Amino acid sequence: MGERFSSYFFAGEWEWRPGIPEELGRLDTICFVRQWQSQDFDQVLAQKTTHAWTGRISGESAGYVCVQFIPPELEILRLGVIPEFRNQGLARKILKELESWARTVGGETIFLEVHETNHPARRLYAGRGFQEVKIRKGYYTNPPGNALLLRKTLG
Ligand SMILES: CC(C)(COP(=O)(O)OP(=O)(O)OC[C@H]1O[C@@H](n2cnc3c(N)ncnc32)[C@H](O)[C@@H]1OP(=O)(O)O)[C@@H](O)C(=O)NCCC(=O)NCCS
Repeated sequence: MGERFSSYFFAGEWEWRPGIPEELGRLDTICFVRQWQSQDFDQVLAQKTTHAWTGRISGESAGYVCVQFIPPELEILRLGVIPEFRNQGLARKILKELESWARTVGGETIFLEVHETNHPARRLYAGRGFQEVKIRKGYYTNPPGNALLLRKTLG
């Protein structure tokens, strides 16, 4: 029996496995306004430096992350949880999985950009110890806004 994931609303077997472009594209389309399709994941995952995983609960794909790893730095390119699984600690779990993997491959720092109005994401990253290092003014166009560059140093 594998690891369990449980929250107030659901519980089930947790599976963490390498992401497949088709599945990643489907999840990304649900999670983002400016979406990556499966062909986009095909292209980025063709690079040796790019990695992606999906998290499943009882066989249902619930969230994913896609990163670029150029040792010792990781950059989170995409991270999402589909709406019916949100606000139950799943993105936190995904970040923990990512950080564990990063430590095993010599990752020292994780970076990402987040829209300044994306409060769920900002709260998620703040809770996992990410800190704001820079503001990129006018970085986003859809919807328009500034990007915050966040960084976490892995202990
Ligand atoms: C951001 C996102 C990944 C969060 O996923 P999630 O599984 O709901 O997050 P979690 O349940 O693990 O919650 C993590 C923290 O965010 C907070 N949070 C989650 N949803 C929230 C909301 N709608 N409003 C405010 N805070 C919220 C939680 O309370 C929790 O805070 P805590 O650690 O202080 O308790 C999800 O909302 C999502 O996929 N959004 C669309 C894609 C996106 O914006 N990705 C991030 C791009 S950088």
